[in-house]
Amino acid sequence: MTFIKGCKLDDLARLSEMGISPRDVAQLLVECFSTQTFLYGIVHADLHPGNLHVRYSDELGKPQLIVLDHGCYKVLDNETRLDYAHLWKSIVFREHDQLKHYTGKFGIDPNFYQLFALFLTFSNFLDSSQTGLLDQRRQMSKTELKKMWKDLKDKFFSKNPNANVVDHFSVIENMFQGMKLDLILLLRTNIQIRSMTTSLGKPINRFGIMAEYCIKALEYETVPVTKQVVLKDGDTKEIVLNQLVLNRTLKQRLTLQWHLIQLRFSLSVMNVAFWAVQKLLRWTLLSRFIEFVSSPQHGKYTDDPLLRNAE
Ligand SMILES: Nc1ncnc2c1ncn2[C@@H]1O[C@H](COP(=O)(O)OP(=O)(O)O)[C@@H](O)[C@H]1O
Ligand SMILES: [Mg+2]
Repeated sequence: MTFIKGCKLDDLARLSEMGISPRDVAQLLVECFSTQTFLYGIVHADLHPGNLHVRYSDELGKPQLIVLDHGCYKVLDNETRLDYAHLWKSIVFREHDQLKHYTGKFGIDPNFYQLFALFLTFSNFLDSSQTGLLDQRRQMSKTELKKMWKDLKDKFFSKNPNANVVDHFSVIENMFQGMKLDLILLLRTNIQIRSMTTSLGKPINRFGIMAEYCIKALEYETVPVTKQVVLKDGDTKEIVLNQLVLNRTLKQRLTLQWHLIQLRFSLSVMNVAFWAVQKLLRWTLLSRFIEFVSSPQHGKYTDDPLLRNAE
């Protein structure tokens, strides 16, 4: 084993010194773990920035993600891997019937599928007017948040005004009661990746990238291939790896590529829109701030919601 000189995945100062953008790191992270999970069904059970380092590879001419600590992995069976790909695809594309079905396959009461999807994404799946590709960077407005809590209470939680936390919690407990064990690790991994992309400033639409890998996972077939590996002590061992094969006609292949191009295009449009909104917001806040400090009556804008958000 060689010592890898890099920095922790969320060390923004060191990344900047190395000239690596948080966006590239987030992209690498989500691509790497989507490949492992959706395409190969292999789940690293201890994902945190200490086990994920980043360096600039002169050989590749681009940043590289170094995954350390391979002490604990879970290998998913093929059915679970494909069900998980179906689950996320239906979340990202907001396909409610599919989502309900695959929520049930993971042992969650399908009647709670909207609440379950909300847990995973913090988006309001009770609001059927929300359509299109899901983007985790989109912040809910106060009005939307209020509506979400109201929808949740109306549909799932006790209407009794005297209901307490325990009553509400029992709803959640019932929902998760029959959950498949593999899902616990998958949800934990998902939370860890969300936390790391958040530390990196949420520069990408994580869900969109995951959807791309889900689509691929559902198209490719896996063929087990036996390989010889040399262990530390010099001994050799046979291991079985999945090789991905696309058993499709030319027309089907072209259709798949076309779907992926459309998805990537939608993601690029979303990225540009997100960037423009951020710039506009910053510019608006800055101009309001300049106006405020140059005003003879400081405090004129105290009740301005834009300035309140800036604090
Ligand atoms: N090959 C390596 N190159 C650079 N740093 C490493 C390497 N292996 C381990 N480390 C450092 O040592 C720390 C602990 O190693 P790790 O394999 O994660 O063991 P543990 O089980 O204690 O978490 C890592 O977080 C990392 O900072
Ligand atoms: Mg470690």
